[in-house]
Amino acid sequence: MDPILDIRNASIAYGQTVVVPELDLSVAPGEFIVLLGPSGCGKSTLLSAIAGLTDLAGGQIWIRGQNVTWAEPKDRGIGMVFQSYALYPRMTVEQNLSFGLKVGGTDKATIRRKVAETAGILQLEPLLKRRPADLSGGQRQRVAIGRALVRDVDVFLFDEPLSNLDAKLRGELRIEIKRLHEELQRTMVYVTHDQVEAMTLADRIVVMKDGHIQQVGTPAEVYGSPANLFVAGFVGSPPMNLLAGQLSGGELALGDGTRVTMTGYPLPEGAAGAAILGLRPEQLFPLEGALPEGACRLDARIDMAEELGPSTVLWCDIAGTRCCYSVPGRGAQAHGAELPLFFYPGAASLFDAQTGQRL
Ligand SMILES: Nc1ncnc2c1ncn2[C@@H]1O[C@H](COP(=O)(O)OP(=O)(O)O)[C@@H](O)[C@H]1O
Ligand SMILES: [Mg+2]
Repeated sequence: MDPILDIRNASIAYGQTVVVPELDLSVAPGEFIVLLGPSGCGKSTLLSAIAGLTDLAGGQIWIRGQNVTWAEPKDRGIGMVFQSYALYPRMTVEQNLSFGLKVGGTDKATIRRKVAETAGILQLEPLLKRRPADLSGGQRQRVAIGRALVRDVDVFLFDEPLSNLDAKLRGELRIEIKRLHEELQRTMVYVTHDQVEAMTLADRIVVMKDGHIQQVGTPAEVYGSPANLFVAGFVGSPPMNLLAGQLSGGELALGDGTRVTMTGYPLPEGAAGAAILGLRPEQLFPLEGALPEGACRLDARIDMAEELGPSTVLWCDIAGTRCCYSVPGRGAQAHGAELPLFFYPGAASLFDAQTGQRL
């Protein structure tokens, strides 16, 4: 399928400072793409370049097979929702929703129909006569989303639309946005620094750092097979355990001399040298009885337990590194207890310690 949005070799600069150097990204029609990365990595800059609010210093942007690199924002056929609600305070919800269409010269009957449709989708009907001041934060943000939605566009750009809301509301609206996407099947490019939002909303996550794409993949790929140490550390909470060692002959010697045979791991031919073993907290299991086939043993000394309700995170020392693993339910362990654990090397991650790249 032809991409609906195609960013080709785009670079973006503020004056002499290049913020995004030579970036490529293709988005398929109907896809939910999340741009994820720490604050300042260039997510908003990239989004505003797609919208046409920031010029490219090089490269091109194509939307629906048209080169829109120099097209005005209004001619790009996109809708945008920002972090701040930016509603017109003197207008009612209904007027806020219809304003853009009115200015654009849409006839009254069409405006009425579109506003009614949008209000239905976002459950805004009971609020149509209210003004923004009389709405909660979540309701205001729903109106802001509605304002983008009433327009006849099929690409939506969201810049951290939930980050001004409290945690509970953020969770609720996150589900609404997901439902909205499932219902409308329109293309969405969504910026966030929140990895939970990225994991739950995205068809594909684009992990960024310093203007560079680190990895593009489904949430499962980004979480399960991070492309490098940055992605491994940025995605996942509690974070991936990272154990340094020396690799040779398919065996990793950890700092304290523990030897780990990487059975089942697709090691590149002749891989050797300083390496880092990455284990998600749920990839470590208490060892009771014999070691299962294909598994490898590690010994842990328990440091602290965090009970989260449905599960418990146990912090421990493994081969001189502070690690954690999770067990279902209440898993209180005595401080200082020595416990054997196991993991499956075939499901683990392994990185080159020098380059940080996945082996
Ligand atoms: N208008 C601007 N002028 C100069 N530098 C800017 C401007 N906007 C953003 N920047 C810089 O560009 C970098 C990327 O910013 P931004 O795209 O806002 O990051 P993010 O959205 O990922 O937090 C940052 O270093 C930021 O300081
Ligand atoms: Mg931003």
